[in-house]
Amino acid sequence: MTPDLMDEGARRVSAYARLAARDKTESGGRAAATGRPVVPGEVDVAHGRILYLEDVSVSFDGFRAINRLSLDIAPGELRCIIGPNGAGKTTMMDIITGKTRPDEGTVFFGSTIDLLRYKEAEIAQMGIGRKFQKPTVFEQLTVYENLELALKTDKGVPASVFFRPSSGDSDRLAQVLRTIHLAGSVNRPAGTLSHGQKQWLEIGMLLMQDPKLLLLDEPVAGMTDEETERTAELFLSLKGRHSLMVVEHDMSFIKTISEKVTVLHEGSVLAEGSLEEVQADERVIEVYLGR
Ligand SMILES: Nc1ncnc2c1ncn2[C@@H]1O[C@H](COP(=O)(O)OP(=O)(O)O)[C@@H](O)[C@H]1O
Ligand SMILES: [Mg+2]
Repeated sequence: MTPDLMDEGARRVSAYARLAARDKTESGGRAAATGRPVVPGEVDVAHGRILYLEDVSVSFDGFRAINRLSLDIAPGELRCIIGPNGAGKTTMMDIITGKTRPDEGTVFFGSTIDLLRYKEAEIAQMGIGRKFQKPTVFEQLTVYENLELALKTDKGVPASVFFRPSSGDSDRLAQVLRTIHLAGSVNRPAGTLSHGQKQWLEIGMLLMQDPKLLLLDEPVAGMTDEETERTAELFLSLKGRHSLMVVEHDMSFIKTISEKVTVLHEGSVLAEGSLEEVQADERVIEVYLGR
């Protein structure tokens, strides 16, 4: 979570209600086309997809970073994305989260929410959480305060000394603390945590908002082996309740967590399947795994 997103959060009031109203009134919307109203807080996964990209392309100065990319993720799925540097993995996340607008293509959250119609902050509010590679926790604040801050952002309440979590919020905070293995470090300033713990804390901050879909870009880069193993456990515990899209180069980590793996190359899907299947694919060996 970036500070500018948090400011944005403070300004938002019931974004869902507004978005739902807009989807009902604009005739061009998919919601209108399917006749299904957009329920605030609900993502329609009746078609078995929480995320759906079709024929998405984007060019930067004539270079096609994403090239007719099509991909979908099932509710509760933990999808691993691999591929060489420059394949377009981060750019794909930029497109899903509204940071980058594609030149062409379709990007849907569930079957009714056309993500290309929304701004970055609105998309975050709808339940798509993103973890960038570098941890961005507030170093001077304690673990507890960092999580509490994530809660304030969620509620659209300006950061205030008068804010006190409700009992439901406190339960949630305690649960997240256990999930990210930081229950024993609640009063430690985040700046004193290890790199891996900071990464978990940031994931915890995302979890405070109970995202439906989590996008994680190289989450175990720079972690020790033990931290990497604990992160694998963490992700396995999150799938089901959340859908996860995990970009990583660490193949032993991928092996531990993966169900379906998508290989990106030159902005499109080169191969998709179990890790064993994609590892045996000649084209994947050629461009990514090496011989
Ligand atoms: N904002 C941008 N402006 C220009 N080129 C970009 C921009 N974002 C990404 N690219 C280019 O798009 C390609 C894909 O980058 P990226 O998505 O970061 O790849 P990956 O995350 O798979 O390593 C790279 O060649 C990169 O230089
Ligand atoms: Mg990248």
